[in-house]
Amino acid sequence: MITIKEVDSTNTFLKNTLSNSKPLPEGTVIMAESQFAGRGQQQNKWNSEAGKNLTFSVLLNPTFLAVSNQFDLTRVVSLGVHSALEPLLGGKLKIKWPNDIYYADKKLGGILIENLVQGSQIKQSVIGIGLNINQEIFPDWVPNPVSVKQILQQDYDLRTLLSEICSHIESYYLNLKAGKVDFVRKSYLSRLYWLNEVKNFKTVDGSFSGTIKTVRDNGLLVINNNGVEIEFSFKEIQFLNK
Ligand code: BTN
Repeated sequence: MITIKEVDSTNTFLKNTLSNSKPLPEGTVIMAESQFAGRGQQQNKWNSEAGKNLTFSVLLNPTFLAVSNQFDLTRVVSLGVHSALEPLLGGKLKIKWPNDIYYADKKLGGILIENLVQGSQIKQSVIGIGLNINQEIFPDWVPNPVSVKQILQQDYDLRTLLSEICSHIESYYLNLKAGKVDFVRKSYLSRLYWLNEVKNFKTVDGSFSGTIKTVRDNGLLVINNNGVEIEFSFKEIQFLNK
């Protein structure tokens, strides 16, 4: 485990270290107290007040995983984070497809996975995780945030949580590696936010109401709309809370 006081982004740092210098062992964790250019999904910035939250990246070498099954890694990581926090936060904690960590209707954390692909295999995977732990005030531009402190009115030790999260990710990862892919997929589905509930969604064609039925092996989200099942990729669909 490497802790850095300040870095642009732990994902960028880990990727640069891998391409510039020595190989790092699988399971290397880089944690930053503060990131000045933290990155989120879809070119978003990731906000985190210095020293208050978990912002870290983990290196995995899932060479056993075909690129076509890369969503299983998303499942493993989301499940690891979820299982580590569930004893603390209970049943309102869910995984919002594809890989947000939600508490009730608010975002507690997010995951940014960057894979180095060679042929049809994933050679290296840089897994960035940002979780709101002890932060109490968020800037206006952050959509829908919540922290563990806001939920439980208590500060949490970041290192203890980090080691819990890493061991849960490891355990799901080893299950996947051992071929227990059905277990991983079922576990993911059973923790999914809005599963089997009638909700509103938005696409480029407008909004509609529908029910999340499942997630395909390859990660596409399946929503039933008036008896018709439609598959969506991440960029194609937005969840509407109101
Ligand atoms: C999201 O948009 O939901 C994904 C957020 C991922 C943030 C983490 S913080 C540690 C790692 N380094 C980054 O720059 N991003 C990820």
